[in-house]
Amino acid sequence: MKIRRKELKDCQRWVDINIKGWNDHFRKIVSDKLLKTITDNRDVRIEQDKQEFINDDWHYVLEEDNQIFGITKIKHSERNGFENCGEIQVLYVEKTGEGYGKALMNKAFEVLKDKGYKKAVVGCLFGNPSNEFYKHIGGKFVRQDPWYIFDEQYMENVYEYDL
Ligand SMILES: CC(C)(COP(=O)(O)OP(=O)(O)OC[C@H]1O[C@@H](n2cnc3c(N)ncnc32)[C@H](O)[C@@H]1OP(=O)(O)O)[C@@H](O)C(=O)NCCC(=O)NCCS
Repeated sequence: MKIRRKELKDCQRWVDINIKGWNDHFRKIVSDKLLKTITDNRDVRIEQDKQEFINDDWHYVLEEDNQIFGITKIKHSERNGFENCGEIQVLYVEKTGEGYGKALMNKAFEVLKDKGYKKAVVGCLFGNPSNEFYKHIGGKFVRQDPWYIFDEQYMENVYEYDL
């Protein structure tokens, strides 16, 4: 298993893992309309992902046998009260239960720590079984925040980690 920075050539796979994650895990948690929009937008998103690609140290992919099975994106948090924290914004794993999610989180923590952050936060959609993952790896539940996507509003649980 290898975790490396995302490259331009990874954009298609990045979007596909994201869309598959939504379809495999978020059905019944989000509306059918939203799922369809996310799925139908695939080609546009790939193009957009390529256009907006920056070779930075905020996007990572997890590879096994030269195939990507997981993605993560970190950022500076813009949440109220967490302005000095790093945030894990994206985390999707195609083959679950192999330790990939934990490995990506550890990488995210390591990079954020190197950047000088003392804490990291992550938001997880209310009702998503992945909430248990975030708690299991040491996340402290802080509060619920509204989460807006297209014209819909959901709630997400926010977890905090000491780095
Ligand atoms: C959440 C996700 C990234 C976890 O990745 P994963 O590779 O399956 O998790 P790991 O194999 O690294 O598991 C690490 C630990 O968490 C536990 N765990 C993982 N998912 C769990 C769950 N849903 N409930 C309870 N425990 C869980 C594992 O049992 C393991 O425990 P251990 O270290 O004591 O053996 C993955 O399930 C996923 O991509 N889900 C769909 C997308 C998603 O919801 N992403 C988060 C968006 S906010």
